[in-house]
Amino acid sequence: MNERLIGLTCSKCGNFYRPDEGPYLCPECCGVLETLYDYEKIEKFEGKDLWRYRQLLPSSGRTNLLVGVTPLYRSDALNEELGINDLWVKDETRNPTYSLKDRASAVVVVLARELGCKTVTCASTGNAATSLAGLSASEGLKCHIFAPKTISAPKLVQLQAFNARVLKIDASYDDCYDLCNRFAEKYNWYNRNTAYNPYTLDGKKTVAFEIAEQLEWEVPNKIFVPVGDGCIVSSVWKGFVELQKIGLTDGLPELIGVQADGCKPLKESFDKNKGCERAEPKTLAGSIAVGKPRNGFMALRDVRNSKGKFVSVTDKEMFEATKLLGSTTGIFGELAGVASVAAIKKEMENGKLDEGEKVVALITGSGLKDVEVALKLFEKIDLLEADEGKIYEHIEEISTNRRGR
Ligand SMILES: Cc1ncc(COP(=O)(O)O)c(C=O)c1O
Ligand SMILES: [Zn+2]
Repeated sequence: MNERLIGLTCSKCGNFYRPDEGPYLCPECCGVLETLYDYEKIEKFEGKDLWRYRQLLPSSGRTNLLVGVTPLYRSDALNEELGINDLWVKDETRNPTYSLKDRASAVVVVLARELGCKTVTCASTGNAATSLAGLSASEGLKCHIFAPKTISAPKLVQLQAFNARVLKIDASYDDCYDLCNRFAEKYNWYNRNTAYNPYTLDGKKTVAFEIAEQLEWEVPNKIFVPVGDGCIVSSVWKGFVELQKIGLTDGLPELIGVQADGCKPLKESFDKNKGCERAEPKTLAGSIAVGKPRNGFMALRDVRNSKGKFVSVTDKEMFEATKLLGSTTGIFGELAGVASVAAIKKEMENGKLDEGEKVVALITGSGLKDVEVALKLFEKIDLLEADEGKIYEHIEEISTNRRGR
């Protein structure tokens, strides 16, 4: 364990635990735990990969796969289309298994190895699972995945390619999560479940460190984050709070949590200032179709502390954002992964975002992992006869129909 890791505090009751006491959730109140480091002792970051932040990670080990270090782009074309000047896109599709979740899985597999656990597990609608499976494969760990039957085919084959032991269960994600926790305890597997294993937040917060560093330590005004369980949004907050604590940045960003219109329990709770009620997910954006957000308490707290808010977007708006992002930047995100861009477009149209604000959109996962949904939404491509005349006519027709570019 990193000697700078002082312990874990409960996000609900504030109880403190030493790292060697090692609970997953707070034994008192089942609150999600958060790591606490000795921020006085942090020295200059050195190195070129994610492990350059190891002073603020639980373990100093590293993975074979290259995780993180993803590009932050400023696309003139996208900015122009949205009528904004300073929008940056953090392309998390570039992680080894194509989603931001690799950051959390990297930290988890390193810890599992350090703790002497040979088997890891998690429940997931897809991205956390494939990332844990890929990282486990590269570290020689066994991996059991509890997947709901709705898991997409590309994610399922990815799991198989990584030789994970897949338990595809006729149950919702929420039920798979509870089952996974029970079996992890029974077999003593190391459990990566989100909002259960406190160190996943540490892995994901590295995305905030990278954004700040790529912007030369200038803090953006707003960061748009797709939200399901609410862990990524809290990790981004934790990352920026820690950077401020160690004096690398001055100020904090407003966090805008983005949910699907068809599943927005956190937005409802935030707007109505009341407890989070379970929602029945009705959205194609599978990765954020979470009816019972496991990190709801912390996500609501952090978005509130950031002076931000939650917004929601329709599946159609996410699909439009997929096309907008793809056609202006060459990045293909899954619906949930581009919810951030959809929300920025909406906020601009509603006059709620200033064109001069420095804004970051997290693109959290790749469209190729949810290609069945994309295939449903994109129009079919005509099959052309191998006839020069007809092909010529077709080229002329599509050239006049396509907008601008
Ligand atoms: C692509 C993608 N975006 C966003 C999220 C939401 O993250 P969280 O559940 O931490 O809110 C997920 C989680 O599975 C995801 O896979
Ligand atoms: Zn507690």
